[in-house]
Amino acid sequence: MSDKLGILGYDYVEFYVGSAKMLAYWHAKALGMKVVGYLGSETGVKDKSSYYLEKNNFRVVITTALDPVNYEITSFVTKHGDGVKRWALKVKDVKTAFEISVQNGAIPERSPRLFEDDKGSIEEAAIKLYDDAEIVFVNRDKYNGIFKPGFGNPVQRLEIAAEETGLAAIDHIVGNVRINEMNLWANYLNKSLNFETFIDFGPGDISTKYSALLSKVVRSKEGAAVKNPINEPFEGIKKSQIEEFIDVYNGSGIQHIAVSTPDIIKTIAALRANGVEFLSVPESYYDALKERGLEVTEDIGQLKKYGILCDTEGDGYLLQLFTKPIGDRPSFFYEFIQRRKGAQGFGQGNFQALFESIEKDQELRGSLDREK
Ligand code: FE2
Repeated sequence: MSDKLGILGYDYVEFYVGSAKMLAYWHAKALGMKVVGYLGSETGVKDKSSYYLEKNNFRVVITTALDPVNYEITSFVTKHGDGVKRWALKVKDVKTAFEISVQNGAIPERSPRLFEDDKGSIEEAAIKLYDDAEIVFVNRDKYNGIFKPGFGNPVQRLEIAAEETGLAAIDHIVGNVRINEMNLWANYLNKSLNFETFIDFGPGDISTKYSALLSKVVRSKEGAAVKNPINEPFEGIKKSQIEEFIDVYNGSGIQHIAVSTPDIIKTIAALRANGVEFLSVPESYYDALKERGLEVTEDIGQLKKYGILCDTEGDGYLLQLFTKPIGDRPSFFYEFIQRRKGAQGFGQGNFQALFESIEKDQELRGSLDREK
């Protein structure tokens, strides 16, 4: 058997939340996504409801429990708050991907299973990730209905007017783990999914005088379409923002999802008009950018106006911006990214700017100091 899992790219992410309708509204209104599918009482499912939203190749499912008997959802939300339960990889063949990953060390969550209705069938399987998350293998090529069997047209249509955001697809998904867990999970993904370590930010690379982190990026070798950074706290005189995440989320899990766009200035202008809150960088960031003399097609004045970060990476450059946490706990947030001139990686300068900006908000929350 070949070691190829047949990974084709990200397919969708699924959140478990306290109120799916409210978070679906936010994704429609703030991110300009379309509510395409719905699963719940009206489609014959009594213990949960899900909204399925799309924007080009960016696909999101938002699910809540309707009955405490659905312990998988209620226990997740009680423990973590709203968060990402699973992300799905589209694979050529679900059985092949699942079997190879488990043979190579993946912890199985669900064996391959076929879901069918009169519109066709899909196959799914899942392996474990972090404390309470999953990676799903899916192939939906033989299904002509809405998303997957069980979903129908949305009863509450949530047809929301929003600015056109141009969001294109998932670029990368980032996990936060405890001290001494980063290598464990990087090795897990490298072995079980045939990934490789792509970037390694070590001690001192991302830090302030107060706090620090370590980060490794692993990626798919098959087409390099899937990238997964993993952060862990590093020692500092104050509490790392990764420790804060572990505290408020009650464990390891998904910190952010980066969504790509072909025109980040238009995207951020639209997202700001839709009311999305972003982390801010000091004005001096743009003076430093001019001084560095980067060859950037975009007008730096426009980047400054919208607060967009810019960093070199390889022969190209990256334009990025990060939202504030979208929920009540300072856990999950979104990133928007445009890769220019072939940039594939993650700029250390932008990562450092993100780290400093979160640290400022962390100070406001009173969670930078360790409890006495
Ligand atoms: Fe990121």
